[in-house]
Amino acid sequence: MSNSLLLGRSLPVPNVQELARSDQIPERYFKPDVDAASMASIDDDELPVIDLMKLLDPELIDREELLRLGSACKEWGFFQIINHGIPEEVIEKIKDDIKKFFKLPLKEKEAIKQIPGHFEGYGQMFVHSEEQKLDWADILILAIQPSQHRDMRFWPTNPSTFRDTLETYTSKVAKVVDCLYGLMAKDLGVDTEEMLNISSSGQLQTVRINFYPPCKQASKVLGLSPHSDANALTVLLQANDVQGLQIRKNGKWFLIKPKPGALIINIGDVMEILTNGRYKSVEHRAIINMEEERLSIATFHLPRDDVVLRPFPELIGSDGELYKVITVKEYIREFFSEKLNGKNALESVKLRK
Ligand code: OGA
Ligand code: NI
Repeated sequence: MSNSLLLGRSLPVPNVQELARSDQIPERYFKPDVDAASMASIDDDELPVIDLMKLLDPELIDREELLRLGSACKEWGFFQIINHGIPEEVIEKIKDDIKKFFKLPLKEKEAIKQIPGHFEGYGQMFVHSEEQKLDWADILILAIQPSQHRDMRFWPTNPSTFRDTLETYTSKVAKVVDCLYGLMAKDLGVDTEEMLNISSSGQLQTVRINFYPPCKQASKVLGLSPHSDANALTVLLQANDVQGLQIRKNGKWFLIKPKPGALIINIGDVMEILTNGRYKSVEHRAIINMEEERLSIATFHLPRDDVVLRPFPELIGSDGELYKVITVKEYIREFFSEKLNGKNALESVKLRK
């Protein structure tokens, strides 16, 4: 099945970067329930930091660090990694090329805009009705792996290095993700081969590059509605120094302030299902800054679409399986059939509510 059918499509919406230039913000961007929640967001607790260097050598593995990784996956669903091995030049280059792309005149960006029936390109996602509230962002979505899914029509050619930069960055990210899968298997006590099976042959990798323009009424809009990610594991890189990612923790919104050079990792719905709920796919959202734009790149990893999602046998306790057995394809179809709405898709496959 083509990636487009799998990942759904979206109605066309106005370009937000252009809208942000005017004082008039259309009603459709005002969300009724942003304000109070975002006020309660600041918390001094730090997002767990995992030092990958301490975990790379199987002989010398730092057990304590591994425990911290496991508890981050169970209690936070989010953590940041340092010493991840992706060279600084690669990170700087992708940040740079993303910034350059969004600085281009609208006409040039629109050369790769989404076309009806395709999810890739420059535009938006999850917009299914003309009444639906909209997110304050423009995004660029591209399928990266397997490489035969790539549709080069949507890959920017300006800046001229963009394609190579993205290729290099995402291939390094895929290696980090495989390494994390191995470590998670160790933490969970599941067969590493089995864990890597979800990744090794034909894993899907997709990027979503987010541009969040500033907004004069920032406290009334959201850059990205509350959601959990559908995939197994997400790697997020903030491309500039503006913060805006919040995760829901103990009923409050918690603002993520990554360490310089760190990558943010989060557990997605598919991983929650595979681990029979041990690891948590946590709700998160992006808020908007009044003065400054914000840029990020999320890289999503998903097992092949015909993989049947059922919890690893080692993790099925006396209470049995907690989720309906479903293929990746069916789960993703469910996820993309509606607007983004918290953890609705995941709730719909829970066997006990
Ligand atoms: C996403 C996401 C957060 C951010 O793209 O799924 O959650 O900070 N992004 O841009
Ligand atoms: Ni997300």
